[in-house]
Amino acid sequence: MADESAGPRSDPMDVFEQNSARSQSPVEFVRLTRAALLLVWRASRRGFLTAVFYQVLGAVMVALFVLAGKLAVDALIAAERGSASVGDLVPVIVLIAAVSAVNATAVSLQTQQERLLGELVSSTIWERLLDVTGRVKLEFFESPRFFEQLKRIELNAVVRPLMMTSAVLGLLGGLAGAAGLVIVLLTIEPFLVPVLLLAGVPTLLLTRRASITEFGFAVSATPPVRLRNYLRSVLSGREAAKEVRAFAANRALRRRHDDANSRYLDGLRQQVRRRQRYALAVALSSSAVLAGSLGLLVFFISTSRISVGEAGAAVIGIRLLSARLDQLLDAIGTLFESAIFIKDLERFLSLSVSAEAQGTGSPAPHLHEIVLSAVSFTYPGSTHAAVRDVSMRIGAGEVVALVGENGSGKTTLAKLIASLYQPTEGSISWDGVDTTDLEPADVRRSVAVIFQDFMRYQLSALENIGLGEPDRADDEAAARAAAAEAGAADFLDALPLGYRTVLSREYADGRDLSVGQWQRVALARAFRRDAPLVILDEPTAALDPRAESALFADVRRLLHGRSALLISHRYSTVRGAHRIYVLEAGRVTESGTHDELMTLGGAYAELFRLQAAAYL
Ligand SMILES: Nc1ncnc2c1ncn2[C@@H]1O[C@H](COP(=O)(O)OP(=O)(O)O)[C@@H](O)[C@H]1O
Ligand SMILES: [Mg+2]
Repeated sequence: MADESAGPRSDPMDVFEQNSARSQSPVEFVRLTRAALLLVWRASRRGFLTAVFYQVLGAVMVALFVLAGKLAVDALIAAERGSASVGDLVPVIVLIAAVSAVNATAVSLQTQQERLLGELVSSTIWERLLDVTGRVKLEFFESPRFFEQLKRIELNAVVRPLMMTSAVLGLLGGLAGAAGLVIVLLTIEPFLVPVLLLAGVPTLLLTRRASITEFGFAVSATPPVRLRNYLRSVLSGREAAKEVRAFAANRALRRRHDDANSRYLDGLRQQVRRRQRYALAVALSSSAVLAGSLGLLVFFISTSRISVGEAGAAVIGIRLLSARLDQLLDAIGTLFESAIFIKDLERFLSLSVSAEAQGTGSPAPHLHEIVLSAVSFTYPGSTHAAVRDVSMRIGAGEVVALVGENGSGKTTLAKLIASLYQPTEGSISWDGVDTTDLEPADVRRSVAVIFQDFMRYQLSALENIGLGEPDRADDEAAARAAAAEAGAADFLDALPLGYRTVLSREYADGRDLSVGQWQRVALARAFRRDAPLVILDEPTAALDPRAESALFADVRRLLHGRSALLISHRYSTVRGAHRIYVLEAGRVTESGTHDELMTLGGAYAELFRLQAAAYL
């Protein structure tokens, strides 16, 4: 695969087919709805059941309301004819009042209940999303499609189960309510019912078509929304504030933000108009049904098929039933459109099938040596190898240096040795055991790596160091010892809350550190990890060469028998290493001790003299 004549190495997302909104069969729709229900059920059984209870209660109340209406009209007519007193109306009025009160109470309790339930569902989904992002191979983070889908899910699919929760409950409530009303109407005039139900069919079809447009909109809206949200965080964050001001870039960035935002809003406007056209068609068709059934009622009264009292109750019943049917169709529409997002979510969650094993818990052995044999590596989606045919050796307790220009493959090699990637060709072995026979997680336990762009967690100093040994991140004594080794103890002790100080200015009592201090903290994190191999990938690049030299010299002293791989683009800072490898365009071009390389008189000798002349 490292062969240059071949096409780009495949994207890890290739194995996952893309969503298509239209390919959804009714069977699939039912399955997805079931999946969404299960999500809600698993998020909170109690919440789900309570919400169902409120829906059923609401439905029963509606049916009682219609019955009470019928009784009221009957009693009124009887009173008018003199066959009953007005006093007979009292129980009916009490019933109506009670039903209304219970109904209103149920609605407001239900609103709060669903608020909590929605939040629980969203938390459950986030947990599963984070499981995926935490466990998939690093390669996925090289894939734009991975992020595209992740952002789409963040923007849409996370709230969808919340919507589906309401929709499914609305559906249940709608069904229960409609069933109650249908029974009541059947007792009054059976013929009205099929008319009302059949009339719902066109509405259903319209709703289905409208909801299909929604996923297409989400797909096209995600890129501008991502750009807009990114620029919002840039324009409102602390990190960018000084550079944005220094370059007076605010206006230019704002313009970009506004452009992205209006692209999104234009799309939204179109989508809203589209949905409004569908909504209009739906409203027209259900008004026609209502008018038709009222006409039918008038006809039944005129032919004395039903009494005026029955007709009155039927009017209420029809009105309520058509409202319930609308609710039902609305819920079905939401389910249609959300189901597509649930599929999107399922696809993303299925990425966990390519999750990495968690390791056996015991670190890879490293007593004698790590050997790279003819290792090549090509990034996914890339056409050329970043590392080619590299062979090298790191012995126990040795300090090995890797030098080379920017882009020569140093970081890539560090990632390979740290088992973040597997070589596309060649092999890496620890004490003679090929890493393909070990779990990457185990190999990583044996490595403490600090990259050039190491993390500056907006957490306490203690956590920033403790995360080097995540299982015992809050062991303050160990963190202090590591900080002392890394030369970070003095300035950390001086912080307002000591090691509990958050290392960010964005928090009360938080403090930011200088670049050099951050590097010491990162170093402390590496030292905190009890690993036989420490890799320092230019964490000192922001220091001047003299300081880098001094720090590398320090590191050698502090290793206590651990092996180290020191990486630098400066030839003048690593002369004390046991062995130096010179990397050019992904290949090792020279290797040996400083003296050997100087005698060789190649690129290393030339660049060393050039760079050292300025500083040493
Ligand atoms: N994530 C990536 N995806 C594709 N190509 C990459 C990626 N990271 C680095 N590269 C490419 O690999 C080569 C080596 O990069 P790198 O290992 O970062 O070099 P160095 O650390 O020596 O500066 C460069 O050509 C770079 O463009
Ligand atoms: Mg690098």
